[in-house]
Amino acid sequence: MVKTKGLEGVVATTSSVSSIVDDVLTYRGYSIDDLAEYTDFEEVIYLLWYGKLPSLKQLAAFRNELNENVSLPSELIAQLKSFPIKNIHPMAVLRTCVSALALYDKEADDTDDQANLRKAIRLQAKIPAIIAAYARICEGKEPIIPEVPLSFSANFLYMLKGSIPDQTSEAAFNKALVLHADHELNASTFTSRVCVATLSDMYSGITAAIGALKGPLHGGANERVMKMLSEIDGIDFVEPYLQRAFANKEKIMGFGHRVYKNGDPRAKHLREMSRLLTKVTGEGKWYNMSIKIEEIIRREKGLLPNVDFYSASVYHCLGIKHNLFTPIFAISRTSGWIAHILEQYENNRLIRPRAEYIGLKHQAYVPLAER
Ligand code: COA
Repeated sequence: MVKTKGLEGVVATTSSVSSIVDDVLTYRGYSIDDLAEYTDFEEVIYLLWYGKLPSLKQLAAFRNELNENVSLPSELIAQLKSFPIKNIHPMAVLRTCVSALALYDKEADDTDDQANLRKAIRLQAKIPAIIAAYARICEGKEPIIPEVPLSFSANFLYMLKGSIPDQTSEAAFNKALVLHADHELNASTFTSRVCVATLSDMYSGITAAIGALKGPLHGGANERVMKMLSEIDGIDFVEPYLQRAFANKEKIMGFGHRVYKNGDPRAKHLREMSRLLTKVTGEGKWYNMSIKIEEIIRREKGLLPNVDFYSASVYHCLGIKHNLFTPIFAISRTSGWIAHILEQYENNRLIRPRAEYIGLKHQAYVPLAER
């Protein structure tokens, strides 16, 4: 039996959704660089689920379907309003609501291909609506959905803020969604595949994936990057902050990667977006501090930024509350989770590895009264 901590280096399945080879990331064979430059997120979702880029007609129909499925069951809105607001993380709310959503879907347990595609659309459309609705409820506002059809990116920003975003914000958010959409067998995607490989339903798979993404070593890192930047709050404090963190053997969020050793190919796009957006918003200090942090971590630890590092200042400049950074990651990654779930169903086998037992052996049972 092969033994490896954290399944490092283990190839656990075959997949044709996305690949990482020699630090190059592709979705269905298309370079992430081209997709980030030229596509709308809706095209990427279509590509991930159907394996090919949509025609104009297909894309228009797909957009319509997404827009038509945005609204949430009124019972779920009532539930969102009943949740405590203080000290509740929106990722916990999202995890709970996606699970609850299944209760209002008659096809929840139908794993037929067509039913799965219909559920895929519902999940992809409603997850942003849940996040935006909860964020508004926390601010004492009513949830809203757009009255006119908007792009996926503009739609979310509208549902969150109540006004149609400017082109720069819409384009930046779209690019961030494209860059986070899929990433081979990352922890949350693997979780979703493990879950549906028991032939459980898509809602269960996505709920499980949200739970995995929530952790600070995975999607939870982006929020913590912003916390670090806010704590440092000045370029002169970067070096002492990091030296203290190194001395305490703390991990610096947004750095390092299990697979990439020469850099995360998504980071350069986010770095550039961070540069532009911090300039436009007059918040250049976040970008300048980030660059300095990158220099020092490279010098001292040989580590490079991952997708989460520069996405923090990007989202901040888009006026998004910091506790929504990881839920936003979930909006995008839902597209990849679903593509992998569909692929898993297509050629399923139960995922059940082994553990090497290192516990006590040959224990003599002591009756309860004698312990
Ligand atoms: N800051 C400081 N040291 C780090 C580090 C970081 N962000 N990432 C890795 N290291 C160090 C570890 O301390 C370890 O050092 P050691 O061998 O002296 O103990 C070594 O690099 C290997 O790290 P390890 O955690 O075993 O690698 P991994 O492949 O299991 O983990 C991550 C990959 C992404 C979980 C890890 O780099 C990390 O925790 N990064 C911060 C969280 C983050 O940004 N997550 C988002 C990932 S996209």
